[in-house]
Amino acid sequence: MDRHTYSRLEGPKAQALMNGFPLLDIAGIQSRLHSAQIGRELIYRPMIDSTNTLAMELAQQGATEGTIILTDDQPGGRGRQGRSWKALPGQQALLSIIVYPAFPAHFLVMGTALAVREAIALTTDLEPTIKWPNDVLIAGKKVCGILIETTAGADGRLCAVVGIGLNVHGSFKEIAELAQRATTIAEQGGQDVSREELIATLLERFDESYEMLQHGGADGTWRIWKHWRDHLSTLGHWVRIQQGARLVEGMAIGVDGDGALLVRQLDGATTQITWGDVEMR
Ligand code: BTN
Repeated sequence: MDRHTYSRLEGPKAQALMNGFPLLDIAGIQSRLHSAQIGRELIYRPMIDSTNTLAMELAQQGATEGTIILTDDQPGGRGRQGRSWKALPGQQALLSIIVYPAFPAHFLVMGTALAVREAIALTTDLEPTIKWPNDVLIAGKKVCGILIETTAGADGRLCAVVGIGLNVHGSFKEIAELAQRATTIAEQGGQDVSREELIATLLERFDESYEMLQHGGADGTWRIWKHWRDHLSTLGHWVRIQQGARLVEGMAIGVDGDGALLVRQLDGATTQITWGDVEMR
């Protein structure tokens, strides 16, 4: 095997390892998980090309709402805007959640970022923020990326696959192109957190946000929007947003009710941003 070494500790505490790190303890996640719907069906593969790709296939075949795909390594991990997502085998939380939202997808973006933020805050002493629209940051560096893809489910309903890549253990210091931008929970002082506890907490928080969006009506949607907006670290910063060939630059002054970023440019005009990578100054 060129990419990994799988090994097994001998003796009473026998445990499978990947590159020297313990594989996820799936029973440990299930025993901690008290969600209503999310994670009741859980598929684990030690290694998979991309959890989102498998989730999209399963969604088209009629997967149950709340089905989770989890892995310890993902050589073909996909990021936003066609980028790849770097795996640190055995050290991240890499998962996809299959849902059938009856509300607009931009609220799912908010609910997911909030769930990740809260899971980290509840299981460590860290206080992550959200970079518009859904990167989770600690000390200004990205600790989690979220990729939401949609497809038609087997019954024709809109299905969303929520892919989450959360950097838990290890470090990006040795990876030149990421060292300045990416971080891990361990690197920021949360080294004692277990991936199992973090994943179970994340699924519970997602379960709650999702329930609020799906069944909470306008009040539920407003609560998620407000909570998300309150944790956005982008607001009040000078930002540059590249949208293909177009560059928008200005002060991030707020978000509208659908989550678009409001950027006031030097000429005084305010532009509504609905997509693109934000660089904060
Ligand atoms: C981003 O570009 O910030 C989004 C990264 C999303 C990565 C996760 S890891 C689990 C899931 N499977 C994938 O292939 N991508 C997402």
